[in-house]
Amino acid sequence: MARIDEIAPNTFRISVLSPVFNLQFNHFLIRDDEPLLFHAGYRAMFPEVREAVERLVNPGQIRWISFSHFESDECGALNHWLEIAPKAEAACSVVGALVSVNDFAIRPARGLAQGETLSTGKHRFRFCSTAHMPHGWDAGVLFEETNRTLFCSDLFFHTGDVEPLTETDVVGRARAALADMENGPLAGSVPYTPLTASILDSLATLKPRTLATMHGSSFRGDGEKALDDLKVVLRDLLSKATRSETSG
Ligand SMILES: [Fe+2]
Ligand SMILES: [Fe+2]
Repeated sequence: MARIDEIAPNTFRISVLSPVFNLQFNHFLIRDDEPLLFHAGYRAMFPEVREAVERLVNPGQIRWISFSHFESDECGALNHWLEIAPKAEAACSVVGALVSVNDFAIRPARGLAQGETLSTGKHRFRFCSTAHMPHGWDAGVLFEETNRTLFCSDLFFHTGDVEPLTETDVVGRARAALADMENGPLAGSVPYTPLTASILDSLATLKPRTLATMHGSSFRGDGEKALDDLKVVLRDLLSKATRSETSG
Protein backbone atom coordinates (compact mmCIF):
# COMPACT_ATOMS: atom_id res chain seq x y z
CA MET A 1 0.00 0.00 0.00
CA ALA A 2 1.24 3.48 -0.88
CA ARG A 3 2.35 5.65 2.01
CA ILE A 4 0.82 9.12 2.33
CA ASP A 5 2.49 12.01 4.17
CA GLU A 6 1.63 15.69 4.25
CA ILE A 7 4.96 17.39 3.53
CA ALA A 8 3.57 20.94 3.31
CA PRO A 9 0.07 22.31 3.95
CA ASN A 10 -2.37 20.35 1.77
CA THR A 11 0.56 18.89 -0.15
CA PHE A 12 0.60 15.12 0.10
CA ARG A 13 3.42 12.80 -0.86
CA ILE A 14 2.14 9.43 -2.12
CA SER A 15 5.07 7.04 -2.11
CA VAL A 16 5.38 3.62 -3.67
CA LEU A 17 8.56 1.66 -3.02
CA SER A 18 9.92 -0.47 -5.85
CA PRO A 19 11.90 -3.30 -4.24
CA VAL A 20 13.42 -4.16 -7.63
CA PHE A 21 15.07 -0.75 -7.91
CA ASN A 22 15.27 -0.12 -4.14
CA LEU A 23 13.73 3.19 -5.08
CA GLN A 24 10.75 5.23 -4.03
CA PHE A 25 8.43 6.64 -6.67
CA ASN A 26 6.70 9.69 -5.25
CA HIS A 27 3.55 11.37 -6.52
CA PHE A 28 2.32 14.63 -5.04
CA LEU A 29 -1.29 15.61 -4.63
CA ILE A 30 -2.13 19.24 -3.85
CA ARG A 31 -5.58 19.40 -2.33
CA ASP A 32 -7.28 22.57 -3.48
CA ASP A 33 -10.38 23.79 -5.34
CA GLU A 34 -8.77 22.32 -8.45
CA PRO A 35 -6.75 19.33 -7.21
CA LEU A 36 -3.39 18.93 -8.91
CA LEU A 37 -1.39 15.71 -9.14
CA PHE A 38 2.31 16.07 -9.87
CA HIS A 39 3.57 12.82 -11.45
CA ALA A 40 0.94 10.60 -13.01
CA GLY A 41 3.25 7.66 -12.32
CA TYR A 42 3.78 4.34 -14.00
CA ARG A 43 0.75 2.55 -15.41
CA ALA A 44 1.69 -0.43 -13.25
CA MET A 45 1.45 1.71 -10.11
CA PHE A 46 -1.85 3.36 -11.06
CA PRO A 47 -4.17 1.15 -8.93
CA GLU A 48 -2.06 1.75 -5.85
CA VAL A 49 -1.67 5.50 -6.39
CA ARG A 50 -5.34 5.89 -7.24
CA GLU A 51 -6.34 4.12 -4.03
CA ALA A 52 -4.12 6.55 -2.10
CA VAL A 53 -5.55 9.57 -3.92
CA GLU A 54 -9.05 8.35 -3.01
CA ARG A 55 -8.16 8.75 0.65
CA LEU A 56 -7.49 12.46 0.02
CA VAL A 57 -9.85 13.66 -2.70
CA ASN A 58 -12.37 12.27 -5.16
CA PRO A 59 -10.07 11.20 -8.05
CA GLY A 60 -12.83 12.17 -10.50
CA GLN A 61 -12.39 15.79 -9.38
CA ILE A 62 -8.69 16.03 -10.25
CA ARG A 63 -8.27 19.07 -12.50
CA TRP A 64 -4.55 19.11 -13.31
CA ILE A 65 -2.01 16.37 -13.93
CA SER A 66 1.44 17.80 -14.18
CA PHE A 67 4.93 16.38 -14.57
CA SER A 68 8.44 17.35 -15.54
CA HIS A 69 9.27 15.43 -18.69
CA PHE A 70 7.94 12.69 -20.94
CA GLU A 71 9.02 9.47 -19.26
CA SER A 72 6.96 6.56 -17.92
CA ASP A 73 7.41 7.25 -14.21
CA GLU A 74 6.38 10.87 -14.84
CA CYS A 75 3.35 10.36 -17.06
CA GLY A 76 2.88 6.68 -18.04
CA ALA A 77 -0.54 6.56 -16.34
CA LEU A 78 -1.65 9.95 -17.69
CA ASN A 79 -4.44 8.48 -19.81
CA HIS A 80 -5.76 6.43 -16.89
CA TRP A 81 -6.16 9.66 -14.89
CA LEU A 82 -7.71 11.48 -17.85
CA GLU A 83 -10.22 8.66 -18.18
CA ILE A 84 -11.41 8.76 -14.56
CA ALA A 85 -11.27 12.56 -14.21
CA PRO A 86 -13.32 14.08 -17.06
CA LYS A 87 -12.22 17.68 -16.37
CA ALA A 88 -8.55 16.88 -15.92
CA GLU A 89 -5.92 18.36 -18.20
CA ALA A 90 -2.26 17.55 -18.41
CA ALA A 91 -0.03 20.55 -17.65
CA CYS A 92 3.52 20.33 -18.89
CA SER A 93 6.02 22.34 -20.89
CA VAL A 94 5.06 23.72 -24.29
CA VAL A 95 7.71 21.46 -25.82
CA GLY A 96 6.35 18.44 -23.95
CA ALA A 97 2.82 19.16 -25.15
CA LEU A 98 3.78 19.75 -28.77
CA VAL A 99 6.35 16.99 -29.16
CA SER A 100 4.92 14.10 -27.15
CA VAL A 101 1.92 14.58 -24.90
CA ASN A 102 -0.61 15.81 -27.46
CA ASP A 103 0.09 12.71 -29.51
CA PHE A 104 0.17 10.29 -26.59
CA ALA A 105 -2.73 11.56 -24.50
CA ILE A 106 -6.45 11.18 -25.11
CA ARG A 107 -6.93 14.94 -24.62
CA PRO A 108 -4.63 17.84 -25.43
CA ALA A 109 -2.36 19.20 -22.73
CA ARG A 110 -1.99 22.73 -21.50
CA GLY A 111 1.53 23.72 -22.53
CA LEU A 112 3.14 26.04 -20.01
CA ALA A 113 5.72 28.62 -21.05
CA GLN A 114 8.65 29.73 -18.90
CA GLY A 115 7.31 31.70 -15.92
CA GLU A 116 3.65 31.02 -16.72
CA THR A 117 1.43 30.53 -13.68
CA LEU A 118 -1.46 28.24 -12.94
CA SER A 119 -3.86 28.85 -10.06
CA THR A 120 -5.73 26.00 -8.40
CA GLY A 121 -7.58 28.13 -5.85
CA LYS A 122 -5.44 28.83 -2.79
CA HIS A 123 -2.24 27.74 -4.50
CA ARG A 124 -0.41 29.28 -7.41
CA PHE A 125 2.14 27.33 -9.41
CA ARG A 126 4.86 28.82 -11.57
CA PHE A 127 6.32 26.78 -14.40
CA CYS A 128 10.10 26.87 -14.74
CA SER A 129 11.56 25.50 -17.92
CA THR A 130 14.69 23.42 -17.23
CA ALA A 131 15.61 21.94 -20.61
CA HIS A 132 17.84 18.83 -20.24
CA MET A 133 17.64 19.14 -16.47
CA PRO A 134 17.32 16.52 -15.05
CA HIS A 135 16.96 15.19 -18.60
CA GLY A 136 14.85 15.67 -21.70
CA TRP A 137 14.55 18.88 -23.70
CA ASP A 138 10.93 19.17 -22.57
CA ALA A 139 11.87 19.17 -18.87
CA GLY A 140 10.53 21.66 -16.37
CA VAL A 141 9.64 21.96 -12.69
CA LEU A 142 6.72 23.53 -10.85
CA PHE A 143 7.14 26.02 -8.03
CA GLU A 144 4.20 26.41 -5.67
CA GLU A 145 4.40 30.00 -4.52
CA THR A 146 2.12 29.94 -1.46
CA ASN A 147 4.15 27.47 0.60
CA ARG A 148 7.34 27.78 -1.52
CA THR A 149 7.41 24.13 -2.51
CA LEU A 150 9.49 23.16 -5.52
CA PHE A 151 8.32 20.02 -7.31
CA CYS A 152 11.70 19.10 -8.65
CA SER A 153 11.25 15.69 -10.29
CA ASP A 154 14.50 13.69 -10.46
CA LEU A 155 16.67 16.40 -8.94
CA PHE A 156 18.10 15.19 -5.59
CA PHE A 157 17.42 11.57 -6.66
CA HIS A 158 18.47 9.02 -4.04
CA THR A 159 17.70 5.37 -3.36
CA GLY A 160 16.40 3.40 -0.37
CA ASP A 161 13.27 3.17 1.73
CA VAL A 162 13.92 6.55 3.29
CA GLU A 163 11.81 8.85 5.47
CA PRO A 164 9.20 11.02 3.73
CA LEU A 165 10.72 14.31 4.80
CA THR A 166 14.18 15.18 6.00
CA GLU A 167 15.75 18.37 7.30
CA THR A 168 19.26 16.94 7.06
CA ASP A 169 21.69 16.42 4.23
CA VAL A 170 19.73 15.60 1.09
CA VAL A 171 22.54 16.79 -1.19
CA GLY A 172 25.03 14.28 0.26
CA ARG A 173 22.58 11.49 -0.48
CA ALA A 174 22.07 12.77 -4.01
CA ARG A 175 25.83 12.92 -4.53
CA ALA A 176 26.26 9.30 -3.39
CA ALA A 177 23.41 8.07 -5.60
CA LEU A 178 24.68 9.92 -8.64
CA ALA A 179 28.23 8.66 -8.11
CA ASP A 180 26.90 5.08 -7.86
CA MET A 181 24.76 5.48 -10.92
CA GLU A 182 27.60 6.77 -13.06
CA ASN A 183 29.27 3.35 -12.73
CA GLY A 184 26.27 1.38 -13.97
CA PRO A 185 23.80 1.08 -16.82
CA LEU A 186 22.02 4.28 -15.77
CA ALA A 187 25.14 6.41 -16.26
CA GLY A 188 24.45 9.59 -18.16
CA SER A 189 20.90 10.00 -16.85
CA VAL A 190 21.64 13.63 -16.00
CA PRO A 191 23.61 15.49 -18.68
CA TYR A 192 25.81 18.41 -17.73
CA THR A 193 25.13 21.13 -20.27
CA PRO A 194 26.22 24.76 -20.68
CA LEU A 195 22.87 25.72 -19.10
CA THR A 196 22.97 23.44 -16.06
CA ALA A 197 24.53 25.92 -13.64
CA SER A 198 22.38 28.86 -14.69
CA ILE A 199 19.19 26.77 -14.47
CA LEU A 200 20.06 25.76 -10.90
CA ASP A 201 20.93 29.37 -10.09
CA SER A 202 17.54 30.53 -11.28
CA LEU A 203 15.76 27.82 -9.26
CA ALA A 204 17.77 28.83 -6.19
CA THR A 205 16.50 32.41 -6.46
CA LEU A 206 13.00 31.03 -5.77
CA LYS A 207 14.22 30.22 -2.24
CA PRO A 208 12.10 27.09 -1.86
CA ARG A 209 11.24 25.93 1.64
CA THR A 210 10.40 22.39 0.61
CA LEU A 211 11.90 20.31 -2.18
CA ALA A 212 9.42 17.66 -3.31
CA THR A 213 11.61 14.98 -4.85
CA MET A 214 10.37 12.16 -7.01
CA HIS A 215 12.85 9.57 -5.74
CA GLY A 216 13.80 9.70 -2.06
CA SER A 217 13.00 11.96 0.86
CA SER A 218 11.56 15.39 0.37
CA PHE A 219 13.62 18.12 2.01
CA ARG A 220 12.51 20.95 4.25
CA GLY A 221 14.96 23.74 4.96
CA ASP A 222 17.15 26.10 2.99
CA GLY A 223 16.27 25.14 -0.56
CA GLU A 224 18.42 27.90 -2.02
CA LYS A 225 21.53 26.43 -0.40
CA ALA A 226 20.56 22.88 -1.37
CA LEU A 227 20.27 23.91 -5.02
CA ASP A 228 23.58 25.77 -4.84
CA ASP A 229 25.20 22.69 -3.33
CA LEU A 230 23.63 20.43 -5.95
CA LYS A 231 25.16 22.64 -8.62
CA VAL A 232 28.63 21.94 -7.18
CA VAL A 233 27.91 18.20 -6.99
CA LEU A 234 26.76 18.03 -10.62
CA ARG A 235 29.72 20.06 -11.81
CA ASP A 236 32.18 17.92 -9.84
CA LEU A 237 30.74 14.56 -10.85
CA LEU A 238 29.42 15.14 -14.33
CA SER A 239 31.72 17.68 -15.92
CA LYS A 240 34.67 15.60 -14.68
CA ALA A 241 33.26 12.54 -16.45
CA THR A 242 33.09 14.54 -19.68
CA ARG A 243 36.69 15.72 -19.29
CA SER A 244 38.03 12.21 -18.70
CA GLU A 245 36.24 10.92 -21.81
CA THR A 246 37.57 13.68 -24.01
CA SER A 247 41.11 13.53 -22.60
CA GLY A 248 41.22 9.72 -22.91
FE1 LIG B 1 13.26 11.25 -15.33
FE1 LIG C 1 11.96 9.84 -12.14
